Amino acid sequence: MAQRSKSSPAWLHEHVNDPYVKRAQKDGYRARAAYKLLEINEKDKLIKQGTVLADLGSAPGSWSQIAAKLVGKTGKVFALDILPMDALDGVDFIQGDFREEAVLAEFERLLDNRALDLVICDMAPNMSGNDTIDQARSFYLCELALDFARGHLKTGGAFLVKVFQGSGYQEYMAAMREVFGTVQTRKPDASRNRSSEIYLLGKNKH
Ligand SMILES: C[S@@+](CC[C@H](N)C(=O)[O-])C[C@H]1O[C@@H](n2cnc3c(N)ncnc32)[C@H](O)[C@@H]1O
Repeated sequence: MAQRSKSSPAWLHEHVNDPYVKRAQKDGYRARAAYKLLEINEKDKLIKQGTVLADLGSAPGSWSQIAAKLVGKTGKVFALDILPMDALDGVDFIQGDFREEAVLAEFERLLDNRALDLVICDMAPNMSGNDTIDQARSFYLCELALDFARGHLKTGGAFLVKVFQGSGYQEYMAAMREVFGTVQTRKPDASRNRSSEIYLLGKNKH
């Protein structure tokens, strides 16, 4: 996946000089990832007043920050991460590992049978450095997220998910096409060019 470890000098150098990192600090966003969602949402208008959505892999919380603001008082954001996340107004958060059934059940209790308009998933496993293992771990999380989206989205709902191009990508695309009317790719500016990450957007759930 050609990801550098987040403690390597090269990563740190790139991070402190990254214009999106500086912009996020200035704009009060918790992560540079904010600009990926903003750009996608500008184009696709996924999040509006009243949208009810789940944010999977939400910490430190920049996507939830944006979502909570856009959905307003009539919408709702449910967020989940294995790491802790500081509270945000309008966001119900659960800390836990999405791969664990008990965590999923707790998250489902929080949803209280509400069907979702949108699921956004930026989950990424800790990188081991072994591309084969990292790729498999990543797609496992994506598959769980797709199952969740299939089970909880309204008919017509949408699903935005981060994937890494490589082994398993075509199969995952095919699985998404079975659930959604259209599946498109999005590569926002803030997604570093050399990264194989790409976002898949499924619209119009069957
Ligand atoms: C790129 S970050 C998400 C950034 C977030 N979209 C934001 O804007 O702040 C990926 C997140 O996925 C989470 N994650 C990875 N594996 C997970 C798992 N098994 N269960 C829940 N969250 C997981 C990580 O803890 C990390 O916070």
